[in-house]
Amino acid sequence: MSASPPSRETAESPTPLLVRAATGRPGPYPPVWFMRQAGRSLPEYRAVRAGTTMLDACRSPELITEITLQPVRRHGVDAAILFSDIVLPLVATGVGIDIVAGVGPVIDKPIRTAADIDRLRVLDAGDVPYVADAVRGLVRELGGTPLIGFAGAPFTLASYLVEGGPSRDHALTKAFMHAEPQLWHRLAGRLAEIARAYLTVQIDAGVQTVQLFDSWAGALSLADYTEFALPHSRAVLEPLAGRVPRIHFGVNTGELLPAMRAAGADVVGVDWRVPLDEAARRLGPGAVVQGNLDPALLGAGWPVIDAAVRRIVEQGRGASGHIFNLGHGVPPDTDPQVLTRIVELVHALEP
Ligand code: CP3
Repeated sequence: MSASPPSRETAESPTPLLVRAATGRPGPYPPVWFMRQAGRSLPEYRAVRAGTTMLDACRSPELITEITLQPVRRHGVDAAILFSDIVLPLVATGVGIDIVAGVGPVIDKPIRTAADIDRLRVLDAGDVPYVADAVRGLVRELGGTPLIGFAGAPFTLASYLVEGGPSRDHALTKAFMHAEPQLWHRLAGRLAEIARAYLTVQIDAGVQTVQLFDSWAGALSLADYTEFALPHSRAVLEPLAGRVPRIHFGVNTGELLPAMRAAGADVVGVDWRVPLDEAARRLGPGAVVQGNLDPALLGAGWPVIDAAVRRIVEQGRGASGHIFNLGHGVPPDTDPQVLTRIVELVHALEP
């Protein structure tokens, strides 16, 4: 049994709007989903997560399935995103990591030497059976709503491993890449293999789109991104060309947008700092963009949000395709009714 490729459309299974937009084909409205839509903004998420650690939830096919479906049921979004975490494949290959509530991933022993790097092993499909199981079940349950798979990009994963946890300025990581370029490339190269293997497991199981999260790439200058991050993100994305559309996302990446496209993206995620028409101009002909409502505006009241959503949809028309999203993840204190209302508004706007 194999999923039909996005280009082979049939009456029973029309190509999802998300895949159409990602490949530059017009639709009635931009498909909408939200980064971190499956999370703490939902009371039903907090209820099913009670008493289970984040990592245990990510290893349970039942919880992955339920949490992934929650925002689809509640908001009517045009895509589900697999409930998991960017550090999950590292945990699955034996790296000591905990996800601490309110903090993020914390590494038992930061990775900074050749010996540390050589202990990182490549991910095998057998390391994450619960992910493939959950994806197969989800694709059946979701019907026409596509499922997005994801992985963390080598730079963003490396930052957690080198720093030992979340970092504001990524200073240790940047010092490491300049002081020890060979070791850096060995580390990022290994993380690229892990990310590619993790995405391949998800694609083989049926996800219809993937997103590579290089959340912290915006900490790098264009020169550093091009030398130290791009080749490794390309090693993740290029081998997946033609399988499913590839979304490439980072925060504060206004200077990096064309380089992120060049790494092998079908869609480039844009945060709220660059208007989508300007992003499309920077990206060049044929670009498809995703974004870019400032998550901070979710707390500003409906008139502000209504105006911002209309502006973003209008600016998105300057690109060859637009997937509506936030510029980063849903904050945990978001009123979920606001998200539902945004979906309804985007769906109701004139084409
Ligand atoms: O709905 C979705 O977007 C799917 C699920 C998802 C999670 N993490 C679940 C999660 C996705 C796509 C991620 C990716 C992820 N994880 C990224 C890239 C996206 C981004 O935000 O830039 C990053 C940097 C991480 C690392 C990470 N994991 C952080 C910073 C945190 C937050 C820590 C906190 O408590 O504030 C996590 C934990 C995490 N991942 C939660 C969820 C729902 C919260 C944990 C909880 O509910 O207890």
